[in-house]
Amino acid sequence: MKEYKKIILYSFLVFLILCFAKPSLSDDPLTTSTTTTTATALPTTSAASTAKVTTTTTTTGSPASTTTTGAPTSTTGASTSTTGAPSSSSSSNETTPTATPTKKPVTPTPSSTSSSSSSSEVTSSSSESSAGEHPCATDVFDSMSNSGNFQESVSSSSNDPYDCYLQSSNVKFTKSGTGTTNVARLILDSAGCPTSCLTHSYSCAEIQAQSSLNYGTYTFIAKVSPIKNVITKLYASTGGNSQYSDIYFQIFGNTTRVNYGYTYFGQKVNYYKDLTGVVISSTNTYSFDFSKTQLSFYFNGILLGKFDSSAYNGVVFPVPPLTYYTSITSNPQTKISPSSLPTYSDIISFNYTAGVCTDSSDGGNNWHDENSLLYFFTSNCTNYRPIPIFNDSFNDGWNAGGNTLIKFINSSSTQSQYARIGTAFSFSLNSGAEYLLIQYNQTAIPIKQNKYIMFWINGGQLGNQNLVVYLTLAGKKIGSVNIGEYIHGSLLPQTWYKVIIPFSKITITPSTTKTFNGILITGASNEFYDLIYMDDLYFSNGTVCMEESSEYPYYQLGQLLNGASDQYNTGNVNFKSVSKLFRGFPTIEYQLYNNYKAIISMMNGTIDTSQYDLLRLNFFFLHDQSYNNPNPSIDSSEVANSFFLDLQICITVQVVGNLPCVGLSPYLGGQVPNAVWVELLIPFSDLQVYPNALISSITFQTQVQDHQGVFFIGDISAGNFVPPYKVLEDGSNAFKLLSNIYLLLLIFIISLLFI
Ligand SMILES: *[C@@H]1O[C@H](CO)[C@@H](O)[C@H](O)[C@H]1NC(C)=O
Ligand SMILES: *[C@@H]1O[C@H](CO)[C@@H](O)[C@H](O)[C@H]1NC(C)=O
Ligand SMILES: *[C@@H]1O[C@H](CO)[C@@H](O)[C@H](O)[C@H]1NC(C)=O
Ligand SMILES: *[C@@H]1O[C@H](CO)[C@@H](O)[C@H](O)[C@H]1NC(C)=O
Ligand SMILES: *[C@@H]1O[C@H](CO)[C@@H](O)[C@H](O)[C@H]1NC(C)=O
Ligand SMILES: *[C@@H]1O[C@H](CO)[C@@H](O)[C@H](O)[C@H]1NC(C)=O
Ligand SMILES: *[C@@H]1O[C@H](CO)[C@@H](O)[C@H](O)[C@H]1NC(C)=O
Ligand SMILES: *[C@@H]1O[C@H](CO)[C@@H](O)[C@H](O)[C@H]1NC(C)=O
Ligand SMILES: *[C@@H]1O[C@H](CO)[C@@H](O)[C@H](O)[C@H]1NC(C)=O
Repeated sequence: MKEYKKIILYSFLVFLILCFAKPSLSDDPLTTSTTTTTATALPTTSAASTAKVTTTTTTTGSPASTTTTGAPTSTTGASTSTTGAPSSSSSSNETTPTATPTKKPVTPTPSSTSSSSSSSEVTSSSSESSAGEHPCATDVFDSMSNSGNFQESVSSSSNDPYDCYLQSSNVKFTKSGTGTTNVARLILDSAGCPTSCLTHSYSCAEIQAQSSLNYGTYTFIAKVSPIKNVITKLYASTGGNSQYSDIYFQIFGNTTRVNYGYTYFGQKVNYYKDLTGVVISSTNTYSFDFSKTQLSFYFNGILLGKFDSSAYNGVVFPVPPLTYYTSITSNPQTKISPSSLPTYSDIISFNYTAGVCTDSSDGGNNWHDENSLLYFFTSNCTNYRPIPIFNDSFNDGWNAGGNTLIKFINSSSTQSQYARIGTAFSFSLNSGAEYLLIQYNQTAIPIKQNKYIMFWINGGQLGNQNLVVYLTLAGKKIGSVNIGEYIHGSLLPQTWYKVIIPFSKITITPSTTKTFNGILITGASNEFYDLIYMDDLYFSNGTVCMEESSEYPYYQLGQLLNGASDQYNTGNVNFKSVSKLFRGFPTIEYQLYNNYKAIISMMNGTIDTSQYDLLRLNFFFLHDQSYNNPNPSIDSSEVANSFFLDLQICITVQVVGNLPCVGLSPYLGGQVPNAVWVELLIPFSDLQVYPNALISSITFQTQVQDHQGVFFIGDISAGNFVPPYKVLEDGSNAFKLLSNIYLLLLIFIISLLFI
């Protein structure tokens, strides 16, 4: 009987040890600070959680102090849950206006299954979560009983879109003439004009709904004015200052003609149908059915016409979200019989039923293509830090040689325009025989150890070089890539590009070679390439994640925050645009004209780069189809339609002033994707900001004269990197303490045996 008892107790003991062994073995390397979530995330017994809590408390570093600017604490005080938590995600939810912004989801700490390598990767995006179909937006039905759902347009000298004067008193929410039906009545009149009508002969009306709609069915029920030269428009538009894209019905009074079609950035597709016998001033139903691929228009249920997204000379459909509008205006350069004024159109109802969207149609980061240059930015972020080979100087064991002339360049050099931050270096390739060889004189490095090699490169005066990067081992070439594969288009002269090459894309010969100890750069042809400049050569495992708790927003949820201001903008930049929402909130709409600048100035304070590591930027670029892009994406494996966009991000710091600007396209491998939300975590050093700088403004600007499109910004925040990956050493306190607890338990259990 006693033997039996022993067996039970021993198995119990083994079980207990197993329970403890798991958390202690997999103890996350980041678990260095106190957090209560750690305890609750642990499985098993209460004894276990007690043990864990004790452990974490004893290994804690003290939380960082709060900064003078009132910024959140920095990384040392951060919670351990970072490894399990998504980095802030790109929007999957932005089409739903009612959705609350996604804060960091409360994710349990990783439990025992994570291995140390998986702990270095963080799930990046919630947009990947459901690949399935879902409604594109919330259904909307408006019976026109509440004026609060609308905003009335008013003409001003700076915004006078029609040949008549928009005034809010021309909108009445009332009952229809004969019955009890609520209507929104839009009036056109000449009273008071032109004196109080900005010199127009007529006053008119337009209302804009507050809703944000997506693909689906849009139905307007309306009685429109039958008066000659009066135009009623029922439409859905992306809005914005100049209403660039819309889908519309347009009815001219005293005709039975219904015009319908759509506009995309000023390019119009218009059709019409003459409907004999129809009385437009009686109740009629106008509807269109809008999906990513098709657009059909109906009048009283009769199909008027159907468009296919690809069929009309490349005029693509507007991109949701849209809001619905109705207007009554006068036909330009014509007269309206005075006896028929005032006249009006009555809008009886509006009904939107959402279509079905797959995730790919609602603007999330759906372009996680491993072959894309942008994969580095869109894939899971990491808690590994880049490891420098060259940062101002070559690091231990690394040196530059080859048969080329190498020069170091800083702000006091003759070539100081190529200095970036600190020191860069130049090398000359005067013929195909010349090469730069950067070698490591210690134990050769496993090719698979790091995911990427990245650096900045500038083609100098000449530009357009065709360069090859080789890996070498003991002076022999063992693998190569053409830099051109990692920069779309060619190297523009005097432009810094960031090149990010995945080691996995370098073909190694012979394939049995597992290590390398040199990086060789040379011309792909025997041409004179002149001087080439390089800076910040690093190994990297991916974008470094941002610590969510360190987030310090300057523009978020449609608001400027924490002392940020828009008062220094130049040109027409809308900081409350509803043309494109981000997570349901307004955005900064920057029409890319070269005399416009979107400037976020840190009026009441600055971003101190001794306290923050990175800038998080969420943007959405919408290409203007009429802009003839010099450098469109030609590679089909890339994100469908992405462009070389001339957009610079320029930082101003206190005392020093303007720092050199960084081009967004050169930063992203030469291209910016079109019509998708993109989240970037940009280390300040990539914006050429040195440590301990005080950033006083961030400017978005362009040098290109033509309208390239629109750049929407949904979020700009400063933040810190997550704590770096650290290898847990066996002798750590955690291990010792746990061992002590095992010991105690062991003693306790063994003592049981003797009871
Ligand atoms: C938006 O996010 C909320 C909360 O995560 C979720 O309940 C909702 O279904 C999401 N909506 C869409 C359209 O994805
Ligand atoms: C990103 O992280 C998630 C969760 O850890 C993982 O399932 C996914 O495979 C990772 N993706 C990549 C590309 O590593
Ligand atoms: C156009 O106006 C004339 C005179 O006002 C009227 O007789 C005719 O019915 C109108 N036609 C339509 C289609 O409304
Ligand atoms: C709105 O339209 C849908 C069909 O598109 C219909 O089922 C629904 O009843 C309409 N709602 C109202 C309130 O008329
Ligand atoms: C370069 O990297 C090394 C190693 O991380 C670091 O010690 C050094 O401070 C860095 N130098 C500069 C100028 O950033
Ligand atoms: C390796 O290079 C460094 C310079 O980076 C030099 O100081 C060191 O002596 C070299 N070591 C060997 C073994 O050659
Ligand atoms: C630039 O480099 C030179 C020599 O390489 C050095 O003497 C000088 O101090 C450096 N200047 C700056 C501003 O770093
Ligand atoms: C990348 O991860 C590996 C472990 O998988 C690590 O050994 C290496 O140092 C990391 N490289 C960088 C640049 O952080
Ligand atoms: C700057 O601070 C002053 C005083 O605290 C405040 O009145 C002002 O609104 C602030 N400006 C901004 C843009 O936050």
